[in-house]
Amino acid sequence: MNLSNFLNSQNYNPGLKEIILDIQAGSIQVYQQLNEAEQDIFGSSGQKNVQDEDVQKLDLLANDIFIRIFRKNMHIHSILSEENERILTCDNDGAYIIAMDPLDGSSNIDVNIPVGSIFSILKNTPEGFLQKGSQQQLACYVIYGTATMMVFALNKSVFGFTLNTKTKEYNLTHSNIRIPVNGNIFSINEGNFNSLETPVKQFLDYCKQLGSDKKRTHTGRFIGSLVADFHRNMLKGGIFIYPKTADKPHGQLRLIYECNPIAFIAKNANGESTNLNTSILDVKPVKIHERSPFVVGSKNMVARLLEFYH
Ligand code: F6P
Ligand code: MN
Repeated sequence: MNLSNFLNSQNYNPGLKEIILDIQAGSIQVYQQLNEAEQDIFGSSGQKNVQDEDVQKLDLLANDIFIRIFRKNMHIHSILSEENERILTCDNDGAYIIAMDPLDGSSNIDVNIPVGSIFSILKNTPEGFLQKGSQQQLACYVIYGTATMMVFALNKSVFGFTLNTKTKEYNLTHSNIRIPVNGNIFSINEGNFNSLETPVKQFLDYCKQLGSDKKRTHTGRFIGSLVADFHRNMLKGGIFIYPKTADKPHGQLRLIYECNPIAFIAKNANGESTNLNTSILDVKPVKIHERSPFVVGSKNMVARLLEFYH
């Protein structure tokens, strides 16, 4: 079943359906840029973003693609993007606001490793984007990997659609996704090891213990694209950890458009997330581009890590 037919068969809010269709349209354009562009779209744009990170040409291309599409959607009141210091207000009084990381993991583009796009959709309330993640109405990501897939959480279920690159249609391939309660994958950048808190180090030690058969009990996997690391762990069972480090006291990932939508998808797939203090979805943001320590994945693995904190 293709995405349009699927949406027609569901009793979703019409505004949210239109937003999903816009993400479909934008992500297909991004897919085409990544896979079919004839000019040189790789490498740095020479600019830095609000967080002083190098902006890749494709970050800007993806940002422009989604903004152009979202601006025409009468259900969207305003847009917060990783690539824009300020909130963009659209010319209509839509009921929803949308926060996005238009191209996640963009440092991986040049080396042919999966990247993604991440979206968090909230109601347009006086709090604006500073709402708890639990208030999200829809969360979605697209992974441009060996296949291009869209995954979204809506009405307490998580669905995955795979792009047919010939017909340029997304088809339902993953119904009612559930994260395995147990897993054996741990995903962390161990280059940060010496600046990790003791409980995280203890958890990593635990993951590295051998079983009685002398075989490893866990496997380490870290791609460096949040969407791709999460997607694998969601399907196979695992934990993603980006804690605070000595040089990044608030962690690396952005709460509103990276942690929240991934945490919302995890929750609706029976997974768990935390900032190592409280559940991610219960954190009230104070700044639009704020960062947060982020742990997400299989329930029992997240619980095991938290035991080292107690
Ligand atoms: O958007 C930030 C991001 O690129 C994520 O996709 C990824 O998980 C993380 O940063 C990788 O950070 P580091 O290079 O410190 O491992
Ligand atoms: Mn990102």
